[in-house]
Parts: sequence; C-alpha cells; structure tokens
Amino acid sequence: MIELKDIHTWYGDSYILQGVSLAVNDATIVTLLGRNGMGKTTTVRSIMGLTPPRKGSIVYNGQEIVGLPPFKIARLGIGLIPQGRMIFSSLSVTENLKMAARTGGKPDPWTLEKVFTVFPKLAERRKNKGNLLSGGEQQMLTIARALMTNPDLLLFDEPSEGLAPVVVDEVFRVIRELKAAGQSILLVEQDFGMAMSVADYAYIMSKGTIVYESTPDKLIDNESVKSTYLGVGE
Ligand SMILES: Nc1ncnc2c1ncn2[C@@H]1O[C@H](COP(=O)(O)OP(=O)(O)O)[C@@H](O)[C@H]1O
Ligand SMILES: [Mg+2]
Repeated sequence: MIELKDIHTWYGDSYILQGVSLAVNDATIVTLLGRNGMGKTTTVRSIMGLTPPRKGSIVYNGQEIVGLPPFKIARLGIGLIPQGRMIFSSLSVTENLKMAARTGGKPDPWTLEKVFTVFPKLAERRKNKGNLLSGGEQQMLTIARALMTNPDLLLFDEPSEGLAPVVVDEVFRVIRELKAAGQSILLVEQDFGMAMSVADYAYIMSKGTIVYESTPDKLIDNESVKSTYLGVGE
C-alpha cells in the first residue's frame, strides 16, 4: 500500500531522517517505535508532505507522492491523527465531524451515525463544543474526525500520549475494531505493550534511521533491542 524508500528529510539545516525505508501492506497494522526525538513524527510529516523529503521515494498505491502538497496526499486517502490533539474548540462535536466528511467513494463509508456507534461518548456529547471535552474525548474526536475522511491508510502519531489508562484502553479498542475491519494503519506509539498487542509488524527508529524490524513476537523476545532502543525493561 505504501513504501518509503531511503527518504532523507531536513528541518532547515538540521538533517533528521537519514535514509528511512519501511512499508505498510494492505489491511495490516505496522508500528513505528523509538525513543523521543528519533524521527517518528518527522517520518509521519514526510509521508503527509508537511515536511517533504529532499531525497528518496514514497510510493502510495503505485503513485509517487514525494513533492505533492499535503492536501493532495490527504485526498489520495491518507489520514493523519497528529501528535497532540487537534480539534476545532469552538465547534461542536458534530460540527467537527461534518467538517471532515469525505466518502472517498467507499462502498460502506464512515458516516456520523457509524462514528457515533463506535464512539458512544461522542454521541452523548454531540452538541458540546470541543473545548468542553475531556482530553480523552478530544482524542476520540480526533480519531473520529480522521475516520470521517474515509482514509485508505491511517497514520496515528502517539494516540495514547498523556491519556489516563482507561482512555488508552478505549483508544486501543477502537484500533482493534479498525484492524478487524481491514483498515491499514501506521501506528507511532510509546506504549510498547499496546503496540505489540495490535501490530502485525514493527520497526524501530534511532537517530533518523530504521535500526530494527521484525514481527512483534520476535521483538518481544529480544531483550537487548528493547533495552537499547526503547528503554523497555529498564
Ligand atoms: N520544526 C523543527 N525544527 C527543527 N528541528 C526539529 C523540528 N521538529 C523536530 N525537530 C528535531 O527533529 C528530531 C526528530 O524529531 P521528531 O520527529 O519529532 O521525533 P519523535 O517523533 O521520534 O519524538 C529531534 O531532534 C527534534 O528536535
Ligand atoms: Mg513524535
């Protein structure tokens, strides 16, 4: 579905992604792990065209997307749930969702009613303005809004960051439902256990490159990789 081949990305003079290659196949969840500041968000921004790579290739459904503006990349069917919650605080839940709606020509697209079935708390608060929602509800709204664009590929950038454990469980319940429905996902996540519980394949980044990749079961057993690159078990 998407393949990044040796991408190199800078912020001004700062050379951040120093040759990143990874792939997400149809109907799978691929997780991208790594400590803070290693380049995970920059990878997501490179895919969306927000910080385009200066070198390398990103092929999405057979089309080169490096060089396309972000709105065109979004229209091709890539949805982003950005790090930190981004909603319109002066708009109601329903208005936030309607703003995003785009069917993408899907046979069974996400609609307001369908989204409210998966997120009953948002249905209860449908008339509330964004700024009256709890952090967890805002995260649900961010996810729901991305679903309203009916993306073929969803990019999650640390969806559980800063959320209470019960809300993290709720976020991962939704990710599991999406997986069961065949949604393709690239999941950047700090919660190692949760990431391993949903992913089909895992990549680890360090200092702007991919330093490890395997299935979750192999990574779970690899104590040295986990302690070196993730700080898991420290
Ligand atoms: N807008 C920016 N300008 C300059 N450097 C940045 C900018 N955003 C991030 N960086 C740097 O790029 C590196 C990678 O950041 P990021 O991709 O956000 O890491 P991660 O998501 O893995 O925590 C870090 O060293 C960070 O300081
Ligand atoms: Mg980040």
